[in-house]
Amino acid sequence: MKKEDFWYIAAESHELGQNQVISRSILNEWIALFRCETGKVTAVQDRCLHRTAQLSNGQVLNGKLQCPYHGWTYDEAGKVINIPSMGPNQRPSGKCAKTYQVIEQENYIYVKLNSEFPELRPFSMPSFGESGYTTIRLQNLFHNNVTNCAENFVDIPHTTFVHPKIFRDAKNEKFGARIERLEGRVKVTYKNEKKNFGWFSWFLNSSGKEIGHTDEFFVPNITSVHYRFGGKNHFIITSQSIPVSDKETLVYTDLTYNYGIWTKLSRPFVKIQAQAIINQDIKILNNQMKTINKYGSQFQNSPADIIHTWIESLQDEISGGRDPYIMPKKEVEIEFWV
Ligand code: FES
Ligand SMILES: [Fe+2]
Repeated sequence: MKKEDFWYIAAESHELGQNQVISRSILNEWIALFRCETGKVTAVQDRCLHRTAQLSNGQVLNGKLQCPYHGWTYDEAGKVINIPSMGPNQRPSGKCAKTYQVIEQENYIYVKLNSEFPELRPFSMPSFGESGYTTIRLQNLFHNNVTNCAENFVDIPHTTFVHPKIFRDAKNEKFGARIERLEGRVKVTYKNEKKNFGWFSWFLNSSGKEIGHTDEFFVPNITSVHYRFGGKNHFIITSQSIPVSDKETLVYTDLTYNYGIWTKLSRPFVKIQAQAIINQDIKILNNQMKTINKYGSQFQNSPADIIHTWIESLQDEISGGRDPYIMPKKEVEIEFWV
């Protein structure tokens, strides 16, 4: 398998209106997105076949994309249907721009760059649209690669250093965790996690009972963190890290949660807190990449880093063109202090 075989978010649905064209970069590929007359999204290489002007600088007329340079016009299949300089009696040219598969799901527009592995589907965002739940959606650009971003999103030991007070205070508390490497994913189930959430805890876990906490990573770019706090309260943070280039990652984060009567009321507060936490991660991850650019990424590990080394082992399979879904399963129990 290759990175290009997977589905990546290209935009949120609301970002692409009718008669609008937007540009995106995924794995260094430039893509123009527009909606045809029925509203269906077309993703086309952002380069005109004629003299390579960027199509995303053009305009959409009646669901067709017109190049800004000499007006060549493309339909929803990427076919050139009009070359203005050929006049009114032109015959279809047979020229066709490169297009990509698109699926619109859960208010995200997904694009797949390669046609291999057609059985793969976009990830389903947990509890999105489920009764009692609300979703807050954030987008943030990190100057780092997908693997380092994804590792950060399921990393506990950094939280007391990068997010003291807001998220987690150091308490010298012993955590237990079962780590499993399964088909194309790593799952971590934590034990003994109690009221260790900084001042955010009164909202998240005012009862102070043990927290049900699992973190999962799904190849090649998704993390999903679930917290369950006494009763029905459920908080999920799912992040899809989109490789804009080798060194830039656009992260779409869904905060989906059910807090009973507080669910709707708390939205502004949860959004501000989450963005504040993400800003702290952006700062440290951008700095990490700066150092990697200078000295490379030879990492040293502690036992708590098994999660990351197993994530890296799955990513290495993809980099080597192999199938990450058939790696041998593994399981280990670890302890660490936070
Ligand atoms: S470059 Fe697009 S029409 Fe000429
Ligand atoms: Fe963090």
